[in-house]
Amino acid sequence: MIHLHHITKSFGTLQVLKGIDLDIRQGEVVSIVGPSGAGKTTLLQIMGTLDVPDDGQVIIRDTDVTRLGQKALAQFRNRQIGFVFQFHQLLPEFTALENVMIPALIGGTSRRQARQRAAELLDLMGLSDRASHKPAQLSGGEKQRVAVARALVNNPAVVLADEPSGSLDTANKADLHRLFFDLRDRLGQTFVIVTHDEELARSTDRTIHLRDGLVLPSPESTPPSSESTSPSSESTSPSSESTSPSSESTSPSPESIPPSSESASPSPESTSPSSESTSSSPELVPVGFPDGSPLPDLAPSRPAAPFSPSSTPETLLA
Ligand SMILES: Nc1ncnc2c1ncn2[C@@H]1O[C@H](COP(=O)(O)OP(=O)(O)O)[C@@H](O)[C@H]1O
Ligand SMILES: [Mg+2]
Repeated sequence: MIHLHHITKSFGTLQVLKGIDLDIRQGEVVSIVGPSGAGKTTLLQIMGTLDVPDDGQVIIRDTDVTRLGQKALAQFRNRQIGFVFQFHQLLPEFTALENVMIPALIGGTSRRQARQRAAELLDLMGLSDRASHKPAQLSGGEKQRVAVARALVNNPAVVLADEPSGSLDTANKADLHRLFFDLRDRLGQTFVIVTHDEELARSTDRTIHLRDGLVLPSPESTPPSSESTSPSSESTSPSSESTSPSSESTSPSPESIPPSSESASPSPESTSPSSESTSSSPELVPVGFPDGSPLPDLAPSRPAAPFSPSSTPETLLA
């Protein structure tokens, strides 16, 4: 469902990605691991169309996103890609429900439908009773689950998560990780998760090891040493794992609402400054919306796109 073909990317003289080929199937939960500076975030941003490769192709649901114009790309991103970051990046002045609704509203979904879909998702996250809370009133784990609901609101092809549990304590971490697998099982949702958490990486369907700008040959393809002495080792049936995600992926999605309607897109992307232009730290690239718009809490000096300067929770969501 996602195909990366020979992706290369340099920053100045530093070649960060040296030819990445990667295929991700519908319903897979894939982790990306590697040392700091290996290019994990860069790869995820390119996969999520927030950054462009120097060379190579990114194909998501049969669309070569490297060929899309800026506006089409922003729309594609809004509908097909959900993002979860290390820090929740919820808008502080909006309630949990409103935060979840926002990408749907940007995509042109009616307020009523967006509200219903957001409420369903919060319910799925076990957060119904937190819907009217603002981020400051939520725990770290709750905020991250709201961020996951926001990532799912447009029923995206894939959710890309960059160290999503990096700021959580052990218990909340475990909860969040369970949630990813639960969402895969219930919705057939595809996840690509950059993580330093070895336990999470171990429990994903597949782990991509990134080093020196390249994907290392998969260690899973060689049997673990503890089993290699056993004549009846499982190493002869490597396909047993690869079939598990697809069995769920055909299950009907419980969403009763179409992810977005075609109508009345406010085209907020036209006001969105380039996400690359203002930050040297990719961990802090201030994007929280699927359209890549910067968030005011991380970029206070910039306009709070996608809203007009006069937008308030009342005008946007009332
Ligand atoms: N926008 C940028 N400008 C210059 N260098 C960058 C930029 N983004 C990332 N880098 C550099 O690319 C390398 C890989 O970064 P990154 O993808 O964030 O790694 P990881 O997420 O694996 O820690 C690092 O050396 C980083 O400093
Ligand atoms: Mg990173």
